[in-house]
Amino acid sequence: MTDYASSVRTLYWEDGGLMLLDQRQLPHQVEYVRCVAVEQVVAAIETMVVRGAPAIGIAAAYGIVLAVGSAFEKHGSRWPQHVDPQIDALEKSRPTAVNLRWAIDAMRKHFPAPAGDPRPTLLDVAERLHREDVAANRAIGEHGAIYLEANAQVLTHCNAGALATAGYGTALGVVRSAWRLGNIQRVYATETRPWLQGARLTTWELQQDGIPVTLIADSAAAQLMHGGGINCVITGADRIAANGDVANKIGTYTLALCARAHGVRFMVAAPLSTIDQTAPNGAAIPIEQRPAEELLSYQGHKTAPLGVPAYNPVFDVTPAALIDTLVTEVGALDGPDFASIAGLFKT
Ligand code: MRU
Repeated sequence: MTDYASSVRTLYWEDGGLMLLDQRQLPHQVEYVRCVAVEQVVAAIETMVVRGAPAIGIAAAYGIVLAVGSAFEKHGSRWPQHVDPQIDALEKSRPTAVNLRWAIDAMRKHFPAPAGDPRPTLLDVAERLHREDVAANRAIGEHGAIYLEANAQVLTHCNAGALATAGYGTALGVVRSAWRLGNIQRVYATETRPWLQGARLTTWELQQDGIPVTLIADSAAAQLMHGGGINCVITGADRIAANGDVANKIGTYTLALCARAHGVRFMVAAPLSTIDQTAPNGAAIPIEQRPAEELLSYQGHKTAPLGVPAYNPVFDVTPAALIDTLVTEVGALDGPDFASIAGLFKT
């Protein structure tokens, strides 16, 4: 087993299969789902066993190892003619997180010549991407933490932690690094309706590391900011357009508006793999709609009257103008825009 030096093991490769921490069961049960076929990886992404843009990307990279391995076993050196449908299914499993496409492209670049067994090469590439994501998050943590002064109270949305990445986290990577410096007094985690990533995952993950965390209802954020209780809002991102518009968990836009109204810094923490330079602005980012049932019921129990429709976009787009700071592994930008974001790729 590879040691990724992370507080929580979100995913790892073991004995020819991908082990995924089943995030639907948290915080009450810590169980892993084992995937030995790419179809299982696709289903795990679709059903939120694994979630969070970077974690989805790394899971897809291992999924390609499984897809290619199976095509090689069935078709020998003709495997390249048989993997596209499975890779397409992986790419479509969640539409907003661009890390999925990024990881698939990175794997495709390393497809070996068809003659030999492709699995060792591709497993090496997937494990390298895995390690690089953890390293990027640690660097994000260092670059972001310097914005937080002593006794900082931070508000975060959804889960952009170790559970949403290969390890350490993006928004929670900044929190972890600032905590080590002794500068975090408390983290406020929004519930994050309807999947409750904040209530179930962020609180659990921070509790594992002994970082003080308080849960709030999504609708309590303005009241908390109004009372002066928050120094910085930090979120992750699912896709960042070339002009700096950010797609992230539904409710992020509301928090950015709230932060601006109260003079609170709004920080987005994400690796370069989340920046989509082919999307000129947020309007070009596909927004995933999930089943109405996720809003109309809770754990199988109806919470709304029968026959009421529901609108369930699970991401929104925060305009770049509302983002005070964008933190990546190569450095932080204050007031990110097209030119400064393009510059990140030249460092
Ligand atoms: O629907 P989810 O749980 O996959 O949404 C996750 C988020 O919105 C995260 O903030 C984002 O992926 C960044 S994770 C480092």
